[in-house]
Amino acid sequence: MTHQEIREKFLKFFESRRHKIVPSSSLMPDDPSVLFTTAGMQQFKPYYTGAADAMHDFGSLSVASIQKCVRTSDIDEVGDERHLTFFEMLGNFSFGGYFKKEAIQYGYDFIIKEMGLKIDYVTVFEGWKSTGLWLIKPDEESKKIWKSLGLNDEQIKTGGFDDNFWGPTGEDGPCGPTTEIYVNGIEVWNIVFNEYYKSKYPEDKNDYKPLQSKGIDTGMGLERLAMVSQKVPTVFEADLLKPILTLTPSELEMRVRRIIADHSRAIAFMIADGIRPSNKEQGYVLRRLMRRVITYNFIAKTDISLMHPERGREGSQRTSTSYGMHDIFAKILEIYGSYYKELNADLIISEFEHENEKFMQTLKSGLKELEKVENVDASSAFMLYESFGLPYEIIKELGGAKAVSLNRKDFDIKFKEHQEKSRAGAEKKFGGHGLVLDTGELKAGNEEELKKVTRLHTATHLLQTALRKVLGPSTDGEVTQAGSDITAERLRFDFSFSRKLTPEEIKKVEDLVNEKIKEDLPVSFVELPKSEAEKTGALYFFKQKYPDKVKVYFVGSSVESAWSKEFCGGPHVSHTDEIGRFKISKEEAVSAGVRRIRATIE
Ligand code: ALA
Repeated sequence: MTHQEIREKFLKFFESRRHKIVPSSSLMPDDPSVLFTTAGMQQFKPYYTGAADAMHDFGSLSVASIQKCVRTSDIDEVGDERHLTFFEMLGNFSFGGYFKKEAIQYGYDFIIKEMGLKIDYVTVFEGWKSTGLWLIKPDEESKKIWKSLGLNDEQIKTGGFDDNFWGPTGEDGPCGPTTEIYVNGIEVWNIVFNEYYKSKYPEDKNDYKPLQSKGIDTGMGLERLAMVSQKVPTVFEADLLKPILTLTPSELEMRVRRIIADHSRAIAFMIADGIRPSNKEQGYVLRRLMRRVITYNFIAKTDISLMHPERGREGSQRTSTSYGMHDIFAKILEIYGSYYKELNADLIISEFEHENEKFMQTLKSGLKELEKVENVDASSAFMLYESFGLPYEIIKELGGAKAVSLNRKDFDIKFKEHQEKSRAGAEKKFGGHGLVLDTGELKAGNEEELKKVTRLHTATHLLQTALRKVLGPSTDGEVTQAGSDITAERLRFDFSFSRKLTPEEIKKVEDLVNEKIKEDLPVSFVELPKSEAEKTGALYFFKQKYPDKVKVYFVGSSVESAWSKEFCGGPHVSHTDEIGRFKISKEEAVSAGVRRIRATIE
């Protein structure tokens, strides 16, 4: 089924079930607390809470839409089979109208009868328990409904707070348990039963307030649905992206070609919604996407054999590196123009050209400097980046034989070292006065730093558990905390361990922490008498004296099942996703048997 047919079928299906079809809203939401529209429900938030009246505005309590969305949280994954920055979300919504029975029936009918696909299995919410009490009950009702539709027990799996509970991340909003539909092994449809309203930084269960009337919010990625319907192995081979991918430079590796295809769509839609490249907020994201595309095109179109005859690559230097982008943007217009009238090819191309010219100036003067450098190691590469704005990829690729030993990790280490130095300079100037937070472990000078140290603090908890899991109980001795110090720039964690960690171990630890961040696990605490708290198995720092009543902060849906739990006074983020990307910058010895890890978040 083509994407055109899927769009039409979806909207007709819901229109004939008394849904009002609502056009996609802009990628820039009215809500100033978020940068981009990340889900179909964004424009409907006030209808769930009663702040707006759906009957009045739509003449119906049910609506459906195909919403353009941008998510940047997975930007580093783009290039694999299914991650995208820009995508379209098919969704049906109810604001106090129908609920579970109808929503599940619609999902089932559309996938099976309209799309002619098979449901492998579905997932439902297993409930949320804390200290032996159900805070949110398991979703037995959805299970029953799926059964009545013919799914057997094996086809109805359960998932916890991490997988089967949805709410907009990092902001206030309606939220609730979900049921997800899996086709050909991938999740295609997320059906959310909005029953609660969460505050931006929920401290505990009391911050999940029941909504006055229950609502439905669903989201199905158009690219994924096209992928399973068209029986292709990646989203880039379905008919929305394939024609774009085909136009990307064939001399580049597939991962990079996918990045260009994905980013080009995001760039086109962002410009169409009024975003312009700049150094802050949405504009900064756009600039990053554009410069990445420009960089790769530049690499593809520069005749490396001229600069480095030893590499012997054929090709000719073209004057305009944005040349091929005209075709790509024209193709994007051809695919999307009839659905999104705001797309204007001339405007997109002129904005792209403008940024391209600007960035080319930077690249050209940087390349002159690159030629002067004899051996490109991490230090000289960082100098080229820092002083001349030359991206790592360009230095590596165009540095040729001079840069063979250069690798990303060493470059990143230089980057972090530099950040730490600037930070140390700032600290000196600051003189250590007027801190808004100083727990001994955590120090912050202002609100912004407070947010950063809070994120780093939760990251420290994840790090400790990850170290224990990766290094395990071994002859090297169990990992226990020996010290922790957190500033707005970095965390520093000392722990007992008798030898240097291998690069593989460091990577494993880093990956595990990032995995838990991505799972967006809730972070909460329970307050217990010290003896009770010890029984939960929570970690505590032997050097510290604790009061009779202590808080146990835990990461996960309950104290029992938590992935990490520690005696701690906070503050912490409310969901791990708020931490951002975690990176270990250094691992070293502090004394015999004690190691020190420095890590940062982005
Ligand atoms: N709002 C839900 C999601 O984004 C449907 O997955």
